[in-house]
Amino acid sequence: MTRLQTTLGQFSFDSCVMNASGVHCYDRTELDDLRASKATTFVTKSATLNPREGNPTPRYKAVPLGSINSMGLPNLGIDYYLDYLETVEVGESSPFLSVTGLSREETHTLLRKIQSSSYNGLVELNLSCPNLIGKPQLGYDTEGVNDLLTEVFAYFDQPLGVKLPPYFDLTHFDQIAEVLNQFPLTFVNTVNSIGNALYIEDETVAIKPKNGFGGLGGSYIKPTALANVHAFYQRLKPSIAIIGTGGVTSGRDVFEHILCGARLVQVGTALQEEGPAIFDRLEAELRSIMAEKGYECLDDFRGKLHYL
Ligand code: DHB
Repeated sequence: MTRLQTTLGQFSFDSCVMNASGVHCYDRTELDDLRASKATTFVTKSATLNPREGNPTPRYKAVPLGSINSMGLPNLGIDYYLDYLETVEVGESSPFLSVTGLSREETHTLLRKIQSSSYNGLVELNLSCPNLIGKPQLGYDTEGVNDLLTEVFAYFDQPLGVKLPPYFDLTHFDQIAEVLNQFPLTFVNTVNSIGNALYIEDETVAIKPKNGFGGLGGSYIKPTALANVHAFYQRLKPSIAIIGTGGVTSGRDVFEHILCGARLVQVGTALQEEGPAIFDRLEAELRSIMAEKGYECLDDFRGKLHYL
């Protein structure tokens, strides 16, 4: 029998596939669904300090090769997710609490709240929401990331990772990796959606906010996601684990993310379209690829991409 166990920092997981933040993780009902599914763990919708309604609808649209969204951070607020997480045991394994501040001060308020709560599991700091009008994605501001993480690690001592936007230039990978390597991060999650895409049907945009501009997900972004996973695998110190996200619709896609160096793989658009039963399928497909190739565990092929 193939083994799908994986580890991330001090935590271990029975399998390697879970939801991506933003999909099927808004409230208790959806989070309970994930816990009842084959997902190995779960991440919450990115929480802000106060609950938010998000952008006007329609704000998500499935399109032939993926999805476009401009949700605008609808969420129930940090207290809701902290309350929920009190019902989840953090032990050898852990859920992920995703947070994002609308300002640097708000990010610190969120992290201090987590630190003084009873939740002692993994935290994902989202540096890459592309859908807030007038707010740039912090992940594209290398100095800003350096300044924020310097402040954060002056007081925050829970296991923390960052969710990054996709990068498209090798010197940008060098620059952001050099910054990230200076901090005791537990993980880097790459990629968030490709920001500010435009999908058109006949003569009209697909979603209402921002005159149709929105984050692109699904199969469109798999090659970009794999490039980001592998570029960070080549550059980050080994103590920073990589979570691979982007374009996963099959066990083959999960396999490719791991081959590029991912320790956990997250599913966004395909989970939105197929529902939590997708995790059974992805796991079965991954196991059958591994069996065919004679791989018994993820270590047998993680990061071992072949070059020509
Ligand atoms: C939203 C989208 C993102 O890609 C993200 O990282 C956070 C929030 C949103 O629009 O809700």
